[in-house]
Amino acid sequence: MRAIQQTEFGGPEVLELVELADPVAGPGEVLVDVTYAGLNFADTHTRQNEYVHQDDLPLIPGAEVAGVRRDTGERVVALCQRGGYATQIAVEEKRLAPIPDGLSDQAALALQIQGLTAWHLHRTCAHVAPGETVVVHSGAGGVGSLAVQLARPLAGAGRVIATASSEARREAAIGFGADVAIDGDGERLTERLVEANEGREVDVVFDMAGGEQFDQSLRALAPFGRIVVCGISTKQANTVRTGHLLRNSRSVIGFWLFHCLNDPERMLRAPLVDLFERAARGEVEPAIGGTWPLAEAGAAQEELSGRRNTGKLFLDVNA
Ligand SMILES: NC(=O)c1ccc[n+]([C@@H]2O[C@H](COP(=O)([O-])OP(=O)(O)OC[C@H]3O[C@@H](n4cnc5c(N)ncnc54)[C@H](OP(=O)(O)O)[C@@H]3O)[C@@H](O)[C@H]2O)c1
Repeated sequence: MRAIQQTEFGGPEVLELVELADPVAGPGEVLVDVTYAGLNFADTHTRQNEYVHQDDLPLIPGAEVAGVRRDTGERVVALCQRGGYATQIAVEEKRLAPIPDGLSDQAALALQIQGLTAWHLHRTCAHVAPGETVVVHSGAGGVGSLAVQLARPLAGAGRVIATASSEARREAAIGFGADVAIDGDGERLTERLVEANEGREVDVVFDMAGGEQFDQSLRALAPFGRIVVCGISTKQANTVRTGHLLRNSRSVIGFWLFHCLNDPERMLRAPLVDLFERAARGEVEPAIGGTWPLAEAGAAQEELSGRRNTGKLFLDVNA
C-alpha cells in the first residue's frame, strides 16, 4: 500500500510518501480500502510529537478515514487514531460506522472527529440551555464551522458569536450561522466578547487555542458560565485559580474525543447517527475546505497551521 510515514518528528518535510506492506486484519479488526483521510489540527501536533499523548516512530499519521470495508463492501467512516494517511488500514470493527446513502464520503468524514467534537461540546460538556449565548472560537475551521451550525438546531442556543483571525474567515463564520464574528486575538478579548453579546457576559465558550484567548474568554463568562477546553493550538498552557471559579460561579471543562471510545455505542455511534440525520435534513452542511493528493500531506497540514482553511481538509489517498 501507499502511505505517508514519519521516521522523525518535525516540520511538514518529515511527511514522506512510501510503499509499505499491506496491513493484515487482526482479531476483531476489518480491512478498509481508504478513499479519503481526514485532516485534523491535532495531526500538526502529532507531527511534532506535541499531542496529548506521545507517539513512537515510525508513524503513519491520520486519525480518521472514509472508505470501503473489504469484507462487506459497505461504505464506512473509521476512527483509527493513527494510520489514516494510507490507501489501506486495518481497524477495530467497533470503530467503524456505516455511511448512509445520500451522504458523500467527505461529508461523513467531516462529521466524524470534528462533528462529534462539536456535538459533545454542546451536549455532553457545556449542556447548553435554550437561549444561552455560545462563543465558538476558530468558528470557520473544521470543529468551529460545525459547532456554529449546530448551536441552534442541536443545542437551542440564543446568540452565537464566532471568532476567526481573518476577515474572509469571519465572513465564512457568519455564513455558517453566527450572529456576529470578531477577531479572536487575545488583546481586550473579554471586552470585545461582552460587546459582541450586546453588553452582557456570555454563557458558554468553546476554546481551542489556550493562552491569552483562554484567559480573556474565562473572564467574559456570566455567573454559571462554562468554558470548554478542547484544543491548545497556541501551545500555551493556562493556570486556573479555584478562588476565581468560586467567586464568579464559572466552570472550566475539558474534552478529548478519544475518551468516547470507552463507550463507543453511546458516545460515538449514536451521536454520529444523529449528525448524519441532521445532515440529511439540511440542518448541518459540512464545509469542504480542500482536498490534496496523498503525497501532498505536508502542504495540506500547512494550510491548517497557516490559519488559511475554511471547513474540513482531506487527503485523496488514491490521487
Ligand atoms: N479535544 C478533542 O477531542 C478535539 C477534537 C477535534 C479537534 N480538537 C481541537 O479543536 C481545534 C480545531 O481543530 P480542527 O481540526 O477543526 O482545526 P481547524 O479549526 O480547521 O483549524 C485550526 C484553527 O485554529 C486556529 N489556529 C491555528 N493556529 C493557531 C494558533 N497558533 N493560535 C491560535 N489559533 C490558531 C485557526 O483559526 P483562526 O486563525 O481563525 O482562529 C485554525 O483555523 C484544534 O485546537 C484541535 O486540536 C480537539
